[in-house]
Amino acid sequence: LRSMVIAIDGPAGAGKSTVARAVARRLGLRYLDTGAMYRAVTLWVLRNGVSLTDERAVSAAARHVVDILDLALAPDHPAVRLDGVDVTDAVRGPEVTQAVSAVSAVPEVRSVLVGRQRELIGDGGIVVEGRDIGTTVWPTAAVKIFLTADSRVRAARRHADTVAARGTTDVDDVHDDLRRRDQLDQSRAASPLTAAADAVVLDSTDLDVDAVLDRILSLVAERL
Ligand code: C5P
Repeated sequence: LRSMVIAIDGPAGAGKSTVARAVARRLGLRYLDTGAMYRAVTLWVLRNGVSLTDERAVSAAARHVVDILDLALAPDHPAVRLDGVDVTDAVRGPEVTQAVSAVSAVPEVRSVLVGRQRELIGDGGIVVEGRDIGTTVWPTAAVKIFLTADSRVRAARRHADTVAARGTTDVDDVHDDLRRRDQLDQSRAASPLTAAADAVVLDSTDLDVDAVLDRILSLVAERL
């Protein structure tokens, strides 16, 4: 278990973060949210007036950000810091969410971040969530989950989170945003969102968090 890598991939709003953190907590493993890394680069790009269509400048931003990025890999308090400043909440803001798929489609951004992700995974003992963990970042992961759910259900869950966090938003807008992001993430040339051939596909449309957690824990037990 102490060297195991558990990869959890899937589209936006499938419940990856909740489930990945719960798995890490239960097994005493570290937790890496790779989406937070793409979001941190995007935040820096937006704050520094870099054009989203300038691939060279966006790539340079990614190289800079990995040097000033500090991630707490604790499942209870995953934190993101840039230059020592906490940006954990800022990276989840709507402007970042809107722009992140454009940034993450830049091949050089991906190679920089994937390199850092591999360093952080190191000797394992970690649950890693993202889009391309089982396919690209760590294809030898002992357990690979592709977590998905009906897009309407994903939008409704995300909507409930946003309402709790910052007041009302329209569930149809959340649905449109998820579908747009899925579409961009699935259609990009560089390591698109897709299930690894050997991933276990879990559809959480009709499953609650505990049911998904139980299923993953039993897969882990099988691989020990
Ligand atoms: O998981 P989260 O919604 O925070 O991810 C934000 C975005 O980062 C995704 O929509 C995707 O564009 C990108 N991403 C990625 N590869 C990963 C993780 C996230 O391209 N491994």
